[in-house]
Amino acid sequence: MIEPKEQARQAHEAFKAEFERFNNLSAQTFTLTEAEGLQKEIAELRIKYTGKKSEIAGLNRLVGQVAVEERAEFGKLVQSVVAEVIQSLNEAEATLKTFIESAKIERERIDVTLPGIRPRQGHLHLLTILRQKIEEIFVSLGYSIEDDREIETDYYNFDALNIPEGHPARESQDTFYTTNGFALRSQTSTVQIRAMERRGVPIRIIAPGRVFRRDTPDLTHTPMFHQIEGLCVDKGITMAHLKGTVGEWLRRLFGKETRIRLRPSYFPFTEPSAEFDFSCFKCGGTGAFEGERCRPCKGSGWIELGGSGMVHPNVLRACNVDPQVYSGFAFGFGLERMCSLMYSLDDIRLMFENDVRFLEQFR
Ligand code: DAH
Repeated sequence: MIEPKEQARQAHEAFKAEFERFNNLSAQTFTLTEAEGLQKEIAELRIKYTGKKSEIAGLNRLVGQVAVEERAEFGKLVQSVVAEVIQSLNEAEATLKTFIESAKIERERIDVTLPGIRPRQGHLHLLTILRQKIEEIFVSLGYSIEDDREIETDYYNFDALNIPEGHPARESQDTFYTTNGFALRSQTSTVQIRAMERRGVPIRIIAPGRVFRRDTPDLTHTPMFHQIEGLCVDKGITMAHLKGTVGEWLRRLFGKETRIRLRPSYFPFTEPSAEFDFSCFKCGGTGAFEGERCRPCKGSGWIELGGSGMVHPNVLRACNVDPQVYSGFAFGFGLERMCSLMYSLDDIRLMFENDVRFLEQFR
């Protein structure tokens, strides 16, 4: 049997060897997770060396077996070993505890003076911006903004607009149909009829809105696009009012120097009909910009914008308005086309792809 003193020495040595790496803890650096790991290991060491089944507990039991005259001395030895082990464990634990506490405080620290994360601010779509600008101009001219349905009947999209069944004008405005006799409107001219039925005359309205056509998407076509329709009916309205009004809103939009011109044309719902052009906003109508052929007007100096004319008597009659008493003008144009000319976009589909990198350029 090993001599008790030797046993005590061996137990102490074994502890010291295992405890070695915890010496000088305060001079070491570690992460919070590492420190927490060490803390667990200390707890395990404590059980191993001071627990009920530990060698040190065994030493305490040995005291009774030592010869009486050596007992006091052996007892003191055991006590000092136990005291040293416990003290070492306590010190290491205290060091780790302090470290862990301050590391946690550090981790949870917030700097209230740091700038916050700003929500990304959105903005209106370029079509909406242009539409609103045009609406503002017309409101200031005494017009009201009229909104109406996008799902229509043949009657409002064609018949009431003097486009009877079989009329060639229906061909170019093929649209999408429902199975129960409705169609997506192919033009905002439907609102001329709806508005006159609802409000009667005199009337001054513009009607911005979505229209639909069975076109394959390409650089200049999308099956859905926007138009703005204008209608003014009153006693004594003439072509001069049409020219004055179209000129006025284009001047307000593009500047005082803007000139307009009307070219004879044909639309079933107007008589006479005219297409309206305005002098190019880029080259001022000269056709050249910085010594080169001007892009938006393709060097012609004019930009073709839309259709117009004097409201056809048949259209007035369809709305129960007497063409002998009232006359009016109407016009219509596409918003996307206008936008792509203004911003030199070579593909109108860009406006519907919702690519923020594109949209952000037009705030
Ligand atoms: N609705 C026509 C189209 O979609 C545009 C138009 C032409 C509207 C002449 C009008 C007008 O009000 O008078 O092509």
